[in-house]
Amino acid sequence: MPSRALLTVAVPKGRLLEESSALFERALGVSPRKLLEGTRKLAADAPEAGLRFISIRAGDVACYVEHGAAEVGIVGLDVLREDPVDLYEPLDLGIGLCRVIVARPSGAKPLPRGVAPRIATKYVSLATRHFARKGVPAEIIPLHGSIEVAPSLGLADAIVDITETGSTLKANGLVIEEEVLAVSARLVVNKVALKLYPERLRRLIGSLREAVAGAASDRAR
Ligand code: PRP
Repeated sequence: MPSRALLTVAVPKGRLLEESSALFERALGVSPRKLLEGTRKLAADAPEAGLRFISIRAGDVACYVEHGAAEVGIVGLDVLREDPVDLYEPLDLGIGLCRVIVARPSGAKPLPRGVAPRIATKYVSLATRHFARKGVPAEIIPLHGSIEVAPSLGLADAIVDITETGSTLKANGLVIEEEVLAVSARLVVNKVALKLYPERLRRLIGSLREAVAGAASDRAR
């Protein structure tokens, strides 16, 4: 890993960008969203904070950090538990709050005993582990999106998916049966970087920790 004048932070595009940016702005006075918006460039420097932000698809952030292309990243716990990676996870950022759940069509009859439920999901590993823990021999049907429509089309008996507001489930006639995982976004740090830049990373983690606590106390007011 080359020595870095600026530590590289992989920031997820999409849902987490706004909340991640607000945390960095609170912690260090720099907003990755503002630095990156209005440009097709996927990297922006904030030398005053000693950081370079890169804009990465949410599902790829852990890969960038694990391989040392970025020292630090922001990743949802659902992604970290679905595809385990060898990263340091020092901080729950308290953002991106949602749940991985099992949902079924509302009013669906229970399946006859001995019939393995067909479960549509993009969380193959989480779903497999969940049903194995319960001793239920589920048939997992891997999909990449639009999971909620699978039961009404007869492709699956239930789904395992992420929900935030619940409106997609409701719009597709599904009700939550149980929770698989409570999710929030985590700060992840490359383990080699932690040895190379202990002080800079300690300061960055400390500033973000204070910002997380400040945001939580604002919400409690
Ligand atoms: C997730 C999930 C649901 C939706 C739920 O999809 O798969 O479709 O969000 O959100 P809600 O409970 O607030 O309605 P996402 O937007 O992450 O996109 P994807 O389906 O492409 O993964």
